[in-house]
Amino acid sequence: MDSAIFSNADSRSDDSLNRVAIIGASGYGGLQSIRLLMEHPFFKVTFLGGNRSVGMRWNDLCPFLPLQQNQVIENPDPELISKNADFAILSLPNGLASKLVPKLLDKNVRVLDLSADYRYRSLDQWKNVYVKEASLYSRRDHDLCAQAIYGLPEWNGSQISTARLVSSPGCFPTASLLPLLPFLKQGLIDTDGLIIDAKTGTSGGGRKPKESLLFSEVSEGISPYGVIGHRHTSEIEQLSTQVAGHKIQVQFTPHLIPMVRGILATVYGKLRDPGLTADDCMTVLETFYRNHPNIGVLSVGKYPSTKWVRQTNKALLSVQVDSRTGQLVLMCTIDNLMKGQAGQGIQNLNLMAGLPQETGLPLVSFYP
Ligand SMILES: NC(=O)c1ccc[n+]([C@@H]2O[C@H](COP(=O)([O-])OP(=O)(O)OC[C@H]3O[C@@H](n4cnc5c(N)ncnc54)[C@H](OP(=O)(O)O)[C@@H]3O)[C@@H](O)[C@H]2O)c1
Repeated sequence: MDSAIFSNADSRSDDSLNRVAIIGASGYGGLQSIRLLMEHPFFKVTFLGGNRSVGMRWNDLCPFLPLQQNQVIENPDPELISKNADFAILSLPNGLASKLVPKLLDKNVRVLDLSADYRYRSLDQWKNVYVKEASLYSRRDHDLCAQAIYGLPEWNGSQISTARLVSSPGCFPTASLLPLLPFLKQGLIDTDGLIIDAKTGTSGGGRKPKESLLFSEVSEGISPYGVIGHRHTSEIEQLSTQVAGHKIQVQFTPHLIPMVRGILATVYGKLRDPGLTADDCMTVLETFYRNHPNIGVLSVGKYPSTKWVRQTNKALLSVQVDSRTGQLVLMCTIDNLMKGQAGQGIQNLNLMAGLPQETGLPLVSFYP
């Protein structure tokens, strides 16, 4: 293969670079993570783990993303991972990370988990929400659930930087919480009757084949799913409750739309002070996110498109106020595989390594 197509980053032998294992390398989260780390100035990929792909050479599996080392994909043995990596990104189906994390932490590997296994402070709550997985994997790691830091970097940045275990948020929670939290924090929004209406592309369901995600099922249509009790509802409520200081409940409805990447979340709530204007509310968002380069706040009357953030780690926020109904309307677009998953994972990894959070992350879209 032509060596010119390998990235410099992958061929670096510099011992000062942080070594990263990607477990679940062949999946969507793994692929994005590898792509981002290939050009990252302070990390290098040193271990690839998987299941069905074990034994394959990386460049045979993914010739479009060739690695200079052309590693063989391995079983995710914690001993082997700890010999090869300082950090591990786990991009696995729910439940599996909990089998690896305690052993990796014991061997001083710092972990960034993209699944839901450590998103709840209470293991019992995880068991209530992830019932199927809880029946498959017996878990007793209450202490790790309580210790794990919820990896929304704009809100938990300082805790993330010293954490051994960071649990990256779900894609819908990221898109919903970023616009909503500043208003909860300031007590500007009525906490009864909060509604979140969200749309996602099909890559949100992962790479493993599923009938509901077939082209013929999804194309030329739009449909709601998980209408009552979608798993991300409780995750949104957990951080909302923490930030507001009292119990928050939301009505959350996701929809599947025929595109590959992207989420648009629209959040509705009543303003406590009906005198507040859209410009006032935009100022609230701008003030909260002034020092956060992964967040953009649009001027009033500009509404974000998923195309504007495609393949970037940017979240674009917009706000409008209906003076007739007193409704605050908050909008947020992200790329579900980037700010909603692997990009946010690298943002967390940057903080864990003491780097500026945006290091090595694309923030400007190639449009369209
Ligand atoms: N997709 C999104 O938009 C999104 C957003 C936020 C969070 N997440 C979360 O991120 C995680 C990964 O999602 P994804 O969409 O990237 O999934 P995916 O595309 O289905 O990939 C799953 C990966 O897990 C590996 N795997 C499965 N079973 C394994 C096992 N027993 N041992 C080792 N590796 C195993 C697979 O490897 P093989 O191919 O070798 O079997 C594959 O590489 C999930 O927990 C998901 O909920 C996803």
